[in-house]
Amino acid sequence: MADKQATLNVDGNDVEFPVLQGSTGPDVIDIRKLYGSTGKFTFDPGYKSTASCESALTYIDGQEGVLLHRGYPIGQLAESSSFMEVAYLLLNGELPQEQELNHFEYTISHHTMLHEQLRHLYQGFRRDAHPMAIMCGVVGALSAFYHDSTDISDPEHRKISSHRLIAKMPTIAAAAYKYSIGQPMLYPDNSLSYTGNFLRMTFGVPAEEYEVIPEVEKAMDRIFILHADHEQNASTSTVRLAGSSGANPFACIAAGIACLWGPAHGGANEAALNMLREIGTPDKIPHYIERAKDKNDPFRLMGFGHRVYKNYDPRATVMQKTVREVFDALKVDDPVFETALRLEEIALNDDYFVEKKLFPNVDFYSGIILSAIGFPTTMFTALFALARTVGWVAQWNEMISDPGQVIGRPRQLYTGPTQRDYIPMDKR
Ligand code: CMC
Repeated sequence: MADKQATLNVDGNDVEFPVLQGSTGPDVIDIRKLYGSTGKFTFDPGYKSTASCESALTYIDGQEGVLLHRGYPIGQLAESSSFMEVAYLLLNGELPQEQELNHFEYTISHHTMLHEQLRHLYQGFRRDAHPMAIMCGVVGALSAFYHDSTDISDPEHRKISSHRLIAKMPTIAAAAYKYSIGQPMLYPDNSLSYTGNFLRMTFGVPAEEYEVIPEVEKAMDRIFILHADHEQNASTSTVRLAGSSGANPFACIAAGIACLWGPAHGGANEAALNMLREIGTPDKIPHYIERAKDKNDPFRLMGFGHRVYKNYDPRATVMQKTVREVFDALKVDDPVFETALRLEEIALNDDYFVEKKLFPNVDFYSGIILSAIGFPTTMFTALFALARTVGWVAQWNEMISDPGQVIGRPRQLYTGPTQRDYIPMDKR
């Protein structure tokens, strides 16, 4: 019995509902019995007021701009941790001891290769296929190759499939890139770090030694940390919904990749850099600000705004700092960064953006870094998918381990025709 109750008056009758409390954050009214006791549903398209599950992984306070993974602030993790350590944390709940981390890294690095036949699958795609199209196909196809880890009721199977997904994602993403530019795919080199190995598979060629630049490796690793998990966002909810039917994890993650692709979600990093390049110079910014404010113009400032953050996205703060570090390390400069800084300044002083609490999100600066490192814009969302796989599998595992888990099955407000009789063709 929950300590607090909420009372709803339906058709003149008071109905009581338990109010559940999390460890922090808003209380939640438990309406699971609403339909049974009143014959009514709630209406919440976009789930703006709906908690779809219990979770102990990630906490966001959108008003304060706080993001915690298992209680640890994202800024501290980005500064002091590594992507592999954050992956361990998300999957296991606690930061690892040194030996535990070494063992985890060893395990992940020994699952990096793809089945040779899976590599042949790439040849079936057009050369100009978007890397996300390839990712959807190849990750879904993993279920056809790794039958030995798809019994989702077995925790050991779930662990192996999770490790396989995290380990193979860099190989899959790098191969998608290599295929698109007509270069040979590289096999993984397990002597390198998770991120170093990914950079080598992406930018290396078999004819030459590839030297990992430590500053770039660190920046890339940090970008992966910043994208690792983000509570019940659209793609994570997609993974959970797909998984709630008992589908295998490879199929579920492929579903998550498909959802992430959209420009309102993961595709925003690609769209944000394209937008900044289109704006070109700071003098053009006012024109684009006016367009973003015009209700009759579908244009939006990409990389701006967030469903949950109504304050600065803490990931964007780290991202902005990382741009400078990467520019210094690679001795590059890109005027697009100046345009981005100026655009942010102008928008944050504009009543429209202030009133609607629209701030730069994680995607506003990430594209500038990725472009400086050498990635084409079409790879940006694939990198997001690579990193978010950690969150997806952790959330999926949490859901399957929950004894109260049931298939996700929302209802609707039906507005179509009521029952009517079929009309034969000659009478229509
Ligand atoms: N530019 C101009 N106006 C905006 C923007 C924007 N980027 N974002 C929101 N608004 C306006 C919107 O028109 C609406 O105005 P009104 O109340 O007058 O109708 C108001 O702000 C609220 O917007 P919303 O679309 O109802 O808010 P939402 O929570 O449904 O959408 C969002 C959040 C992220 C989809 C949206 O802000 C957006 O489309 N941003 C651009 C795309 C983007 O950067 N996405 C990446 C999100 S972070 C990474 C990730 O999680 O994938």
